[in-house]
Parts: sequence; C-alpha cells; structure tokens
Amino acid sequence: MKKFNITVVGGGSTWTPGLLKSLCTLKDRFPLKKLVMFDINEERQNIIGEYGKILFKEEYPELEFSYTTNPDEAYLDTDFVFMQMRSGGYEMREKDEKIPLSMGIIGQETCGPGGFAYGIRSITDMIKTINDIRKYSPDAWILNYTNPAAIVAEALRREFPNDNKILNICDQPVNLLRSYGRLLNVDPNQFEPVYFGLNHFGWFTNLYDKEGNDLLPKLRKMILEEGFIPVDAEQRDQSWLDTYSMVRDMVTDFPDYLPNTYLQYYYYPEYKAKKLDPEYTRANEVMDGREKRVFEECRKVVEAGTSKGSHVTHNDAHSEFIIEVAESIAYNLGRIYIVIVENNGIISNIQDDAMVEVAAVLTSNGPRPMSVGKIGTFYKGMIESQLAYEKLTVDAYFEQSYEKALMALTLNRTVGCGKKARQVLDKLIEANKDYWPEFK
Ligand code: G6P
Ligand code: MN
Repeated sequence: MKKFNITVVGGGSTWTPGLLKSLCTLKDRFPLKKLVMFDINEERQNIIGEYGKILFKEEYPELEFSYTTNPDEAYLDTDFVFMQMRSGGYEMREKDEKIPLSMGIIGQETCGPGGFAYGIRSITDMIKTINDIRKYSPDAWILNYTNPAAIVAEALRREFPNDNKILNICDQPVNLLRSYGRLLNVDPNQFEPVYFGLNHFGWFTNLYDKEGNDLLPKLRKMILEEGFIPVDAEQRDQSWLDTYSMVRDMVTDFPDYLPNTYLQYYYYPEYKAKKLDPEYTRANEVMDGREKRVFEECRKVVEAGTSKGSHVTHNDAHSEFIIEVAESIAYNLGRIYIVIVENNGIISNIQDDAMVEVAAVLTSNGPRPMSVGKIGTFYKGMIESQLAYEKLTVDAYFEQSYEKALMALTLNRTVGCGKKARQVLDKLIEANKDYWPEFK
C-alpha cells in the first residue's frame, strides 16, 4: 500500500488533536509516511505538536512527524494538504458575530456580515498559502475546508483558474447524513444523496439507499413528528442543538427538501437574530468549551508523558471525514461526497460560473459531479441572491471596492437594507483594519 505525506495547515486548531487521533485510528486504511503541521501561531501549535509527539510515539511510531511555522518546511514533498485555517482566530470570530448582532442582524461565523468579514480575511491568507504550497508541491491535493467556504472557493476559482487540485469541501453535509442515519437507524455509508445549492446554503432532494429506495419522505415525516438532533447530540453545546432543532421548523414551512442547517439564518433572519445573545455568542461558547478542553487535555498528556487514557475532544465526523476524502482520492475509491465545484450546467438553470455544492463521485482525478437539472423558482431565487452576494463580496476584495462591499451586504438576506448594510460595513472595516485590504 502506498504511503502518503500530509501537511495540516492550522496545526494549532482546536480540531487538530481529534484529527491526529483519527489518523491513528485510520492508519491501516490510509497509511502515512510523513506528517507536518503548520501554523502561524507558534504557541498554540506547540501544545498540540507536543501532544502529537507523544500520541504518535505510542500509536504510530513509524510516522515521521514534525511541526513548523516555516512555510519552506511545511510544503516540501507533500501529497495532501488539509487546510483548516482560521484567519484572525476566535478573537475575530467573536467580533464577526457580535458586531452585526449589536445591530439586530444575524451574527454568525459564515453567514451574513460576519461571514463577509471572515471571507475578506480568509481570501488574503488562502491565496498566500496556496502560492507557498505550489512553490514546493505543484501536484499536491489541497483539501480546503477553510471558511467561509463559499467565498473562499469563489476567490480561488478566480485566482487559480487552472489549478484543478484544489478541492473545496465542507463537513456539514456529512454531519447531516450521519444524523439522518441515527434517526433512521441506517448506516450513513449506505446513503446515496442528491443535493444542490451553495455552501451552507443547500438542500437534500433525495436520500437513496443501496437498493434505490428514497428514504427522504420517511425521514421528513420522522423529523416533523420527532424533531431533529445531531448524530453526536450528547457531545454538542446548546447552540448546536438549537440549530438542529430548527430543521423541523424549516421542513414544516418548506417541506419539499431537507435543508442544510445554515438555511435557518436565511429563512428566518429576524426571528433567529432575536434568539441569539449579543453578549455571548458561539465564539464565546467555543472559547469557554472546546478550546479550553482541548488545550487542557493536550497539556495533561504532555505532563503525564503518555496519551493512554486521554480522550481528546473529538468530533468524529469532522476529523474522519477529511481523511476519508483523502483516501477516496488516493485510492480512486469513487465514494460519493458533497463538494463545492464550478457549476457548468450541473444545476441547469443557474449560471455556469457559480461555485455550487453538489454530490460527486470522488476519484483520483478529482470530483465527478452528478447532474441536478432544473431547480424550482423558490430555490433558484434563494440561490441567485445569495450567489450575487458571494460574487460581489469577492469582487469587493479584488477591486478593493467599498461600493461592491455595500452592494454585497445589501443583497444578503440577513441584512436586507442598504442603510443597515452601510452601518455594519463601516463597523467591520474598523474592526478588521489589521486584516483587510483598504476599500476605496
Ligand atoms: C460545521 C461547519 C463548519 C463550521 C463548524 C463550526 O462543521 O460545516 O463550516 O466551521 O461547523 O463549528 P463550531 O463548533 O466551531 O461552531
Ligand atoms: Mn462548513
């Protein structure tokens, strides 16, 4: 079996220890020769890197493992880059969420003005990182799940039009499939989903099993009767349980398809904004919860000198998923994944140059997306306004245009008013002055 070299960008992420652990669990299926972690934040990465050393000594002694803040070391001779950076860290996530919320607008990591702010930050860092990677490993697969994925994917499409080894992908569809599996009591690997939309803005239209039966009508009925919870409900914070529970509301109002959880912010912007606490957002929940737990656990392992008996906080779907994606490419397995690709007729009544999220067969030559065909007026209208927002956001970045930024935010359903858009934009410009290009 061929062994691969991997680079993890975002070595100091709260998700990284879980990823390292999953690499051990899955090592017989996807064996590694070398693993390098890269982060610009040395302090965070050191803690996780030292944890990794102990973990691998015990569970993966044959692996060459290192961590670095030097891009010249990170990308030499790598086969897969797992990109999970967070430009500005949780400190900026908190601002992304709180600034809009203080004005009564949705405050969310990837949706609305917060997603806009994060998007402009991510584009800069992503372009730099991909140039660094390509200098050393022109053929490596870049598996990107840096957020906001929709905006990042559109920016990368423009900046690297001929690079066909960048795969933009999100784990939320997988989280949803696993959650459907829990409710239906079916192994989620048995599902063959049909899905369309944009990232964090899509719908499952069918959920076939291996025999070709569509389980979606049954699932819809169960959600309407019993509600909906994540597959790992017992490990989730309250805000995620609230998010999943909104699926029942969405299916009640719009029963055709099963929505991505993020659609709650676009279906119900005012209602949902009122439910969020402007003083204590998801960023606070993460900083007080996952972040503390993960770093404490890593420190404990390092002090004890052993990882035996330790349980790094771990979202299986999140960490196993990206490894399984790499495995599917590495061994040409042709598994079905929901990925972000250029439309080119997949959704036949949406423009060709949209970056859409759809089901695809994932091979060693990349994703082969499955045709969706024509979509209905409601979905087309929703997608086209969101798409215009995304495109204008990326225009604003490349043209450094205040006017485009204002247009983008005015179009976003979570804002919906040009006056509010200008106000929130001005506040975000101030908050992001160390990160953003200057808008003229
Ligand atoms: C899901 C989404 C990611 C997002 C994450 C946030 O996994 O697909 O795009 O970043 O949720 O999770 P958190 O626990 O940090 O709020
Ligand atoms: Mn996502």
